[in-house]
Amino acid sequence: MTIYRSLNPADFPLPEWHPYMIGSVVPRPIAWVTTVDQSGRPNLAPFSYFNVFSSKPPVAAFSPSTSARTGKPKDTHQNLLEVPECVIHLVPYALAARMNITTGEYERGIDEIERAGLDTIPSEVVRPPRIVGTPVQMEAKLRQIISLGDNPGAGQLILVEIVRLHLAEHILNDKGHPDPRKMDVIARLGGFWYMRLVPESLFWMKQPRNPAEVMAWHELPRDIRESKVLSAAEIGHLLAFRPPDAERLASLPEPSDPEALHRKMQSLLPDKAEEAWRMYIEHVQSGI
Ligand SMILES: Cc1cc2nc3c(=O)[nH]c(=O)nc-3n(C[C@H](O)[C@H](O)[C@H](O)COP(=O)(O)O)c2cc1C
Repeated sequence: MTIYRSLNPADFPLPEWHPYMIGSVVPRPIAWVTTVDQSGRPNLAPFSYFNVFSSKPPVAAFSPSTSARTGKPKDTHQNLLEVPECVIHLVPYALAARMNITTGEYERGIDEIERAGLDTIPSEVVRPPRIVGTPVQMEAKLRQIISLGDNPGAGQLILVEIVRLHLAEHILNDKGHPDPRKMDVIARLGGFWYMRLVPESLFWMKQPRNPAEVMAWHELPRDIRESKVLSAAEIGHLLAFRPPDAERLASLPEPSDPEALHRKMQSLLPDKAEEAWRMYIEHVQSGI
């Protein structure tokens, strides 16, 4: 049985609580954000309290907190109040260390882009520039800022509407959509840990469109529910794919050597659940 450590946020001051927040929701994508101040000076900073929240309208949000060091809003937040536009970039592994350089809390007006040796190209719709070498770039306009407090560490949730999406050709699949196998972007974990989006860490799982495409737990043959070979994840993949003749499963005999059969099915999971079921049914029907 899993033993849990249960924490009450109210018991912890910010520096002790922060590691639990950034370590518990993982991995987080990183918004690498360009903004400009009212005199047009650019700023670049990373934020991993970030995601997209609506497709139409296309809305993204990230959250620069009030600085724990200075007690002031971060430059990105301040700039958005002056010029309500930004460009959000995803960070490719190739630029991970450059991204790290741009996190330094430099004085306002210091150009982190120049310091990190990065090149820019103009945006089509907004004033902040785009960072060269990033695979995904979202030009966006400010919609709303939701202040979650004014103490150090309190997030200032910035909601922006995407007005242009730029995708590097080399990350696209044959339908023109971003292919996760080609992106190699980084994500933030707890502490100083990061991860790379690389093919070895991916798996494919089709979303069932309606409940008739999946099985119910009680419909799974008993040997599969109690398998000593198949992992919980693999049993889940079988549960999520309903074979065409699922109703017949209950009336079929149990396999004589379930472990051997489960090992064969295992080699087809996670992506070939259909074949794994076909093999199971043929096997038990033939009485082996
Ligand atoms: C990977 C990464 C993710 C970060 N995410 C956040 C975040 O979500 N919110 C935040 O306030 N600071 C975050 N920081 C720290 C800011 O990048 C840092 O405070 C930066 O100096 C802010 O820049 P600015 O003042 O130019 O806006 C993060 C730093 C790193 C390296």
